[in-house]
Amino acid sequence: MYVCICNAITDKQIRQAAESGVTSLWELQKDLGVASNCGKCRETAVDILREHSRPESSTERTRQRASSV
Ligand code: FES
Repeated sequence: MYVCICNAITDKQIRQAAESGVTSLWELQKDLGVASNCGKCRETAVDILREHSRPESSTERTRQRASSV
């Protein structure tokens, strides 16, 4: 599904960006151009980013804590 019509960015691309470590709208804008024109996609893009970055982030934090002990 297209999330950002202006830049033809799909939800799949945003999920892939989140899985590769993107955690903020600023990074999404820099990497994909999401919300860099009209901005109507901003809220949806952030929602998708949050849904897909939280589990990765908590897993990564758990790994970091485990490796520092
Ligand atoms: S729909 Fe994303 S910038 Fe316009």
